[in-house]
Amino acid sequence: MLAVEDLLRDNAFINGHWVSADSGNRFEVTNPADGSLLTSVPDLGPNDTLAAIEAASSAFREWRTTAPSTRARLLRRWHELIRANEKDLALLMTLEQGKPIREARAEIRYAAAFVNWFAEEAARTYGDVIPSNASDKRIMVLKQPVGVVAAITPWNFPAAMITRKVAPALAVGCTVIIKPSEFTPLSALALARLAEDAGFPNGVLNVLTTMDAASVGDELMAHADVRKISFTGSTRVGKLLLRGAADTVKRVSLELGGNAPFIVFPDADLEAAVQGAVAAKYRNAGQTCICANRMLVHEDVAEEFAVRLTAKTSRLKVGPGVDDDTDVGPLINEAALEKVESLVADAASEGAEIRTGGVRHAYGRTFYEPTLISGVRDEMSVSSEEIFGPVSAISTFRDEDEVIARANNTPYGLAAYVFTRDHGRVWRVPEALEYGMVGVNTGVISNPVAPFGGVKQSGIGREGSRYGVDEYLEMKTVTVGGL
Ligand code: SIN
Repeated sequence: MLAVEDLLRDNAFINGHWVSADSGNRFEVTNPADGSLLTSVPDLGPNDTLAAIEAASSAFREWRTTAPSTRARLLRRWHELIRANEKDLALLMTLEQGKPIREARAEIRYAAAFVNWFAEEAARTYGDVIPSNASDKRIMVLKQPVGVVAAITPWNFPAAMITRKVAPALAVGCTVIIKPSEFTPLSALALARLAEDAGFPNGVLNVLTTMDAASVGDELMAHADVRKISFTGSTRVGKLLLRGAADTVKRVSLELGGNAPFIVFPDADLEAAVQGAVAAKYRNAGQTCICANRMLVHEDVAEEFAVRLTAKTSRLKVGPGVDDDTDVGPLINEAALEKVESLVADAASEGAEIRTGGVRHAYGRTFYEPTLISGVRDEMSVSSEEIFGPVSAISTFRDEDEVIARANNTPYGLAAYVFTRDHGRVWRVPEALEYGMVGVNTGVISNPVAPFGGVKQSGIGREGSRYGVDEYLEMKTVTVGGL
């Protein structure tokens, strides 16, 4: 199946060794497209977690003092290996996660780009010299690694969400413990295999596979040596982790849920808006935190927008991710499908019109037809909840102030999209939107060089970009007196 069979790992990775669980327990990894068994991996618990923390703490003592150029060299090697194994990594990802193979390959390149970017940043964690207000003193700021980092990563981007956290952490001298989603551990293990080949010392990078996220998470949160937690996932779990981090006062980065407004003004290039909507909605079958959740379209162009987007939506090819021509793959599991189904049914029962889709796809189980509904109102659950499925939900607006107020009327603040050709609006509207990221006349905003993150209940901190390393660095002030 894979060109390099060794990339399909069925053990966890602690302190440079491929290990089974202390308990001997394992859990199955299945293909969401057909439910077939891929393999099983160890179901680690608190004892294994402790072993990983000890390994990462002990490795940190040396890793923190390695030359940035050494860390950069290992990261560059890891990057090359990820690129060289793109096909296998993408196939593994599609098999365990379901996304179309084209998207999986794009994700592997996206994941690799973070490693390359942070390899370059490794040498640029400059300190500072601050002019002192006492003539016999000098003040310096040193930037130092925070310590052991726990990276808790989601199933929707099984590779990129790992490298977006792990590469900056390793670049500045932290060691890491990765806890991937129980749905997608194979991508994490394959990345660890390549990191091993790249030559990272034992204990610098560890992967804990588990079904018992709560007890592994509790152990990570309770341990004083874990100095930083970086999590991508639901707002509900993010809040638990934030509370859990309080006892040992850990640094925390959270990339949580969203409810992205996609605003189309009457002066927009409508074709560009429709294309942007397809990109921002149907990527990964709608299972991204930055997917357009609420399409707010000016009433003068709403019908035309709906007609054009319906035509594009109904032409999307649904199928197993391994098929080259698939545009929309399965959802991650049946529970996800049931949630999407109930949001659409709810909206329809309250008067929304289903223009296309709105039913399970003939493939059954986890496949849902790409759907477009119009006549949506803000009080419907499809507007207030994160859909996380291939459903465009269109409502209309009349003026700029109204749409800004409605777009901001949510506890979330991750991504927003605006389509307009009005020069003033291009500046005014993004400034007024309470979101961490705004796409103007584009539905594609993810880029390793751009900061990624949200405000309000969508998170804390930024990943990627030159700011991404700050999350893994402490500032130390050194005041030298008696000069
Ligand atoms: C996410 O959905 O959380 C990540 C999406 C991205 O990086 O593009």
